[in-house]
Amino acid sequence: MKILLVGDIVGKGGQAAVCRLVPKLRKEHHCCFCIANAENIAAGAGLTRAAVENLHNHDVDVVTAGDHVWAKTDYVGHIDGLPKALRPANLSARQPGRGYGIFKIPIGGTIAVINLLGHVFMRDQVTCPFATVDRILEEIGSRTTAIIVDMHAEATSEKIAMGRYLDGRVTAVFGTHTHVPTADARVLPEGTAYITDLGMVGSRESILGRDINDVVHRFCTGLPTRLRVVEDDIELHGAVIEFDAATGKALGIESVSAV
Ligand SMILES: [Fe+2]
Ligand SMILES: [Fe+2]
Repeated sequence: MKILLVGDIVGKGGQAAVCRLVPKLRKEHHCCFCIANAENIAAGAGLTRAAVENLHNHDVDVVTAGDHVWAKTDYVGHIDGLPKALRPANLSARQPGRGYGIFKIPIGGTIAVINLLGHVFMRDQVTCPFATVDRILEEIGSRTTAIIVDMHAEATSEKIAMGRYLDGRVTAVFGTHTHVPTADARVLPEGTAYITDLGMVGSRESILGRDINDVVHRFCTGLPTRLRVVEDDIELHGAVIEFDAATGKALGIESVSAV
């Protein structure tokens, strides 16, 4: 069984590219399920109900998020009405939404998706992602064999540590947040597919999806600068993982990109 993973979707341009490219990529790679991180889909930071529903209408089954999950404050009131949209599991339990779910695969079977946020360089209110994932795996128990983890984090070391911590216990751990694809896609020794960062669906002529001159100006002057989202010349980055549905063990992972 194969599934498509898609990195952080940035802005309207990223959303349009996903709608155009994901159905094609799913066919081309024979993927029966798709997970995409959309924390930057609404004007570069945050999500909206309309954007999530649009992704679902274009072959994205589960939408994950990250540190920008509440950047569009209306989403706080909408997420509970979106059963296939996750927010990081290790935020306060008093926040709406869910950090993991078990979803039906259209061709049969189920898959668990878990969304975590890294501790390092991230929000103060994040609890330990390692303890959180242990608790969730206990809750999932034997309800499904296929378990996919989006580890949304800044530090490569923390993401690799999560991959190694979960090796043999989940089907795949993929990293998001840094918007730059890494060249380390592999199946770890105990059968977990792993990649440190998928990359993004954003402009090639940008800095992490934002206007080059704006970002350079901010670095050079230290002044507050509006970082405009670049909406054209979009490239999609992600990965395809293959796994044995009976055991949940990964058989392979390859990076994919499309324009
Ligand atoms: Fe992020
Ligand atoms: Fe992001």
